[in-house]
Amino acid sequence: MAIHSARSETLGPDAIEERVSSTAVSLGKRRYRVLIGEGLLKQLGALVRQHLHRKTCAIISDKRVAPLFAKHVKESLASAGFRPTLITIAAGEKSKTLEQAGAICDQMIAAGLDRQSFVIGLGGGVVGDISGFVAAIYHRGIPHVQIPTTLLAMVDSSIGGKTGMNTRDGKNLIGAIHHPSLVIDDTDVLKTLPRREFNQGFAEIIKHAIIGDRKMFEALKVARAFWPAAAGETHALESLIKRNIEIKSKIVAKDERDQIGERALLNFGHTVGHAIERAGDYRRFLHGEALSLGIVAACAISIKRAGLSPDQRDAIVGLLRQFELPTRLPKNFRREKILGALKFDKKFKGGKVRFVVTPKIGSAKLSRDVTLDDIHEAVAQL
Ligand SMILES: NC(=O)c1ccc[n+]([C@@H]2O[C@H](COP(=O)([O-])OP(=O)(O)OC[C@H]3O[C@@H](n4cnc5c(N)ncnc54)[C@H](O)[C@@H]3O)[C@@H](O)[C@H]2O)c1
Ligand SMILES: [Zn+2]
Repeated sequence: MAIHSARSETLGPDAIEERVSSTAVSLGKRRYRVLIGEGLLKQLGALVRQHLHRKTCAIISDKRVAPLFAKHVKESLASAGFRPTLITIAAGEKSKTLEQAGAICDQMIAAGLDRQSFVIGLGGGVVGDISGFVAAIYHRGIPHVQIPTTLLAMVDSSIGGKTGMNTRDGKNLIGAIHHPSLVIDDTDVLKTLPRREFNQGFAEIIKHAIIGDRKMFEALKVARAFWPAAAGETHALESLIKRNIEIKSKIVAKDERDQIGERALLNFGHTVGHAIERAGDYRRFLHGEALSLGIVAACAISIKRAGLSPDQRDAIVGLLRQFELPTRLPKNFRREKILGALKFDKKFKGGKVRFVVTPKIGSAKLSRDVTLDDIHEAVAQL
């Protein structure tokens, strides 16, 4: 696994790309580039052309994102000689179904797309997951270009190749691992993201800091607002996105298929976080908000089972609050619903859980000592 970063001003045959900040993710023989910067959508066609010598593609987007960016994306692709077909789905989690994936495939067939075509996902994590899944199954797999438009998708879901579909019984139970051929993170698109959606991305960023980067944790504590409308903060935001991609891809490279426990570290805060999301019927909390609460619970458990100091727990809670994330459950929220939802977790075996704990900020490990009672206690304290 190697991560290469570059910001070069040299003009050469690949001049456009060389002026863009980028990170390359390498997984065994596979390697893909993540381009990060302002105004990348304007040069999208030329950027994609440097990586894919194909003609036809589907742009998959949702009904909130498409009106904002799809016209420019289509025009830029067409001017670089591509023939794009735009397919839009309803915004939100309810679109991540096999039925929806099948309907997209039908539209792609009707548009004459074949195994020489490729798929572009233009949207947040929902679009990233469904477009990646479609790319994985269409003609048994065609290339996927990710254009994440939420902070969460840039720092998390667009990296790692997981594509999850929901079923009646739970989230992300069906999917495929299908890595993108190219990821394009245009920080300009974040300007239209509602503030609450923007902030939820910081829950994953803070999670990355806790499990793997003490320095980033300290830097976030003194960071000024990252809100993209704040002038002069774009470069700080770009480096932050890049650093998070590096942390996630390094972990994924060690354990691509989630087999040795390394990739599981990325689930820090998620056992309780997912249960809270489910208990709120996926409406009350955004994923990052539920994760924030899950991180607080994981800290309480880490104090008991991994020797985390209460001071460090307080620093973590303080940082989550700094980014306007919840750290206490609303008073009237029925905690029993969370405990009920925990039963759906795949990780529960005979009352014991594979639970990710942090002994100190910047490190994490899997513990087998955590009991359901520990979790109940942590939830009761939230
Ligand atoms: N595959 C993975 O590894 C992985 C990792 C983490 C999360 N996920 C998945 O990601 C999903 C959550 O992602 P998300 O938080 O990006 O949700 P999302 O895709 O639902 O986007 C959130 C909302 O913001 C809107 N939006 C997106 N970009 C916008 C923009 N630039 N301006 C204005 N509005 C915009 C969307 O239309 C949507 O309504 C979940 O389904 C989760 O399971 C996958
Ligand atoms: Zn998450």
